[in-house]
Amino acid sequence: MEGIAIMTSGGDAAGMNPAIKAAADHAMHLGYEPFLVDDGLRGLIDDKIEKVSDHDVSDIIHRGGTILRSSRSKRFFEYEHRLAAYENLKKRGIEKLVVIGGDGSFRALNQFYADFQVPFAGIPATIDNDIPGTDYCLGVDTALNMIRQSVDSIRDTANSFRRAFVVETMGRHCGYLAMASAVTSGAEICMVPELEYDLDSIGERLRVKYQGHPNFLIAIVAEGCNMSDYLNRWIGDTLKMDSRLTILGHIQRGGSPTVRDRLMASKFAVGAVESLHRGETCNIMIYKSGHFGTLPIHKVADSQLEMDPALVAMCKKLCK
Ligand code: F6P
Repeated sequence: MEGIAIMTSGGDAAGMNPAIKAAADHAMHLGYEPFLVDDGLRGLIDDKIEKVSDHDVSDIIHRGGTILRSSRSKRFFEYEHRLAAYENLKKRGIEKLVVIGGDGSFRALNQFYADFQVPFAGIPATIDNDIPGTDYCLGVDTALNMIRQSVDSIRDTANSFRRAFVVETMGRHCGYLAMASAVTSGAEICMVPELEYDLDSIGERLRVKYQGHPNFLIAIVAEGCNMSDYLNRWIGDTLKMDSRLTILGHIQRGGSPTVRDRLMASKFAVGAVESLHRGETCNIMIYKSGHFGTLPIHKVADSQLEMDPALVAMCKKLCK
């Protein structure tokens, strides 16, 4: 029986476990022998690969993170370690890989394909939502709901004390989490790396809004701006409001996957196994303009990240 190995790689994201389950189930359904790789790329090199049964993946769909653990392996950049990984797959009859992770992991697997012709299918998973070619990556909806819940709680204190709160969201260099959160939590200010901001006009807009009686204020700032601390002090100095900074941090990465993440995970995973079954070699699963599809890794690597123009337009009003 031909083997398909399933692995997670890069930062964990809610939705990885449902994707592992759906990929294993569908691989079995099509007559493959599924394997799980523990510890991501590091586990491929270090031979942490086990056969998987239906039972192994039967109680994971509701769990955040990844039961397979993950890693960012520098050793995989070196040929001798990739060769060790290939031999570990070969001795078990594993001829295809499903990798759930970010574009860095996909590029690593593309190099692996160039070396040893082991086909892979990639499932985009990162709360940053920064993989070009797809509008959605697993983990984003769960992270957004976690941020929404946190900002709703913070709003209670903000309102009770007429305070300002600067809430910093993750996303590395991408402002998607901050933009979607700013709109869905009714923030007064949004700062993201993709959009220019103008503190003078923000100040003027809010002075007009408050008419000398500042109410509470919520500002959502993407970590990639490096502006949270400065904005917190600026609000105190310029708007004369009592302001607090909350850095949400890794709370955004964890938690039980939402229905949307479970559903997207299942669809991406079935698509990934189907892609390998059709004999495709280096495809990434995508969700673009409301449709599921696949994109070869070289197109993902060459694409620019496109932000939802309607979301961008709404956020532009919050950064000036
Ligand atoms: O890529 C996911 C992410 O959570 C980013 O949003 C964040 O900048 C980074 O990972 C944090 O990395 P680490 O968990 O290594 O601190």
